[in-house]
Amino acid sequence: MNDKSDAPGKSEYFDKAYRAPITLWGDVRIPEELKDIVETYKPKTSLELGCGLGRFSAFMARQGIKATGVDFSPVAVEKAKKRVANNEHKPTFIAGDVTNLEMITEQFDVSFDVGCFHCLDEDDQQKYVSEIYRLLKPGAAHLLWTMDHARSDIMLNPNYIAKVFENHFQLVNSKSSRRRIISSHWYWLICAK
Ligand SMILES: C[S@@+](CC[C@H](N)C(=O)[O-])C[C@H]1O[C@@H](n2cnc3c(N)ncnc32)[C@H](O)[C@@H]1O
Repeated sequence: MNDKSDAPGKSEYFDKAYRAPITLWGDVRIPEELKDIVETYKPKTSLELGCGLGRFSAFMARQGIKATGVDFSPVAVEKAKKRVANNEHKPTFIAGDVTNLEMITEQFDVSFDVGCFHCLDEDDQQKYVSEIYRLLKPGAAHLLWTMDHARSDIMLNPNYIAKVFENHFQLVNSKSSRRRIISSHWYWLICAK
C-alpha cells in the first residue's frame, strides 16, 4: 500500500528526488520571465516559493537582490546552501512549508514560484495565497509558473488562477508556455493591499 510519504505533495517525496544526482526538473536556464521581473520592478528583496536547489534565488542574489528561498525539502535546502557557500552574494534558504511561513516576517518587493503551486491541493492553495499576501508589499508582483495539469488532478488555467487569488491579488497577465515541454502557463499577479 502506498503510504502518504510517497505522495508528491509530501516533503519526503521531494527529499527522495533531491538525494539523486539530478532531478527531473533540473532545467538550469534562468527563465526570461524572471529576468523581466528584475528589469521591470528592480526589486531589492525577493521571496521564492518552492526553491528546490535554489538556482533561481542564487540568480536573484547575483543581481544584488536580498533573496530568500523556501522549500519544505530539508535535503533540497541543505544542497541549495552548499551550492552558494562560496558565492559573494548568497540567498537565505529556509526549510519551510509554503502554506505556513510564520518564521518569515519581512515584507518583500517581489515573489516567484517556478513549479511549487501545482503541488498543492485546494486547501493548501488558499493558505499559500494568504501567506504570500501577508509577506508582500502593497503593489508587489508575484510571478508564477505552473503546469496546466496539477498533481492533485486540478486543471490550472487563467480563469482558475484568477479565482484562487481573487481576494488578494489581481491577475494582470498570463502566457501559455511549453517550458520543459510541459503544457503550462506563466502568470503575473499583483498584490492588492
Ligand atoms: C518541481 S520542483 C521545482 C523546484 C525549483 N523551483 C526548480 O524549478 O528547480 C517543486 C518544488 O516545490 C517544493 N514544494 C512542494 N510543495 C511544497 C510546500 N508545500 N512547501 C514548500 N515547498 C514545496 C518541492 O520540495 C520542490 O522543491
